Amino acid sequence: MPAVSGGKFVVVGGASLLGSHIGELLLQADAREVVLLDNLALGSTDNIQSLLSDGRCTFVRGDILRLNELFDPFAGADGVFNVAGFLTAPIAANPWMGIDVNVRGAQNVLEACRVQGVKKMIFSSSTGVYGGLGDEPNDENSPLRWGDLPPALVLYCTSKVMGEGLARLYQQRYGINCVSLRYSAIYGERQHKRAIDATRMVEAYERIRSGQPPIIQGDGNQLQDYVYVGDVARANLLAMERNVSGEGITIATGVNTSQAGIVDLIVKACETDLKAQYSDDVTSKPSPATRPVFGREAAKRLLGWEPAVSIEEGIRRLVAWLDQERASTKTV
Ligand SMILES: NC(=O)c1ccc[n+]([C@@H]2O[C@H](COP(=O)([O-])OP(=O)(O)OC[C@H]3O[C@@H](n4cnc5c(N)ncnc54)[C@H](O)[C@@H]3O)[C@@H](O)[C@H]2O)c1
Repeated sequence: MPAVSGGKFVVVGGASLLGSHIGELLLQADAREVVLLDNLALGSTDNIQSLLSDGRCTFVRGDILRLNELFDPFAGADGVFNVAGFLTAPIAANPWMGIDVNVRGAQNVLEACRVQGVKKMIFSSSTGVYGGLGDEPNDENSPLRWGDLPPALVLYCTSKVMGEGLARLYQQRYGINCVSLRYSAIYGERQHKRAIDATRMVEAYERIRSGQPPIIQGDGNQLQDYVYVGDVARANLLAMERNVSGEGITIATGVNTSQAGIVDLIVKACETDLKAQYSDDVTSKPSPATRPVFGREAAKRLLGWEPAVSIEEGIRRLVAWLDQERASTKTV
């Protein structure tokens, strides 16, 4: 399997939250060349300025819906990380584009790998492939339960199932080694507002820094398994280097934090005396009874991966980055 040190790697969707962190780790791990490819539909080159100051790293503006734009950047690549995708919120806003990017785009990336003889592709999937979560642990053997989910979420979940299916097909038919990594809710530095759960972190931060109490929606008991972006990027490098392929692997912490708990951690990291307020929005529903319980045994067994950054530490890092961003925009 391709060693990162000395190799050439393409990060498709390289200007994203996750793509920028994968690029950073590749450079730290002595990759020879790192290409960050993105059409900037959702990401921004602001995310990757510091990476581009390293002479080994280049940015290519390219669209995965245009197969021809992938051939040159993929030439001579040892491995490709396909991070590009539309999350549920952008799919809800533009389902045509979202499905195209998540499905046809994923196929184009595989096709360009085939034409250019790329040895391995790591696909950014989601725990969404399990759909609605039951109370029992959800792991690689869990079925897709989609009956009660909102339509845009069903489209997102099934588009990731399609992406994984295409990866398996290309592995079977053309021998391209593929691994699909199924992430829970990612958060961290360079956080955007497209991920529904992590968006609340940024909203709480923004209210606090503008002197207002942060708001907890509903009863605040809604649970989520938040995984730190640097840990997810590390899982990607392990999946590239390890002798593993044809697998779909859950990348989650196995630890749940409530919405109220997240707001509390943001309050602490911001060192404010402001107290959180519960929203009196009567349309806010109480939290569903289900709780995400993700098994991460396969990640440990196949990749030697375990999360390293706790939610407390991850939130501290996020707040430090948000403070830095705020200070730099104030001085412009
Ligand atoms: N953020 C999460 O909580 C989360 C959870 C589970 C899975 N994932 C998956 O992980 C991946 C990365 O998530 P993220 O939050 O970093 O995403 P993001 O929204 O920050 O980035 C997606 C990137 O894809 C790019 N892109 C979109 N269409 C493109 C196209 N046609 N051609 C080239 N680039 C294109 C966007 O410009 C953007 O930079 C996604 O595939 C997402 O579905 C994310």
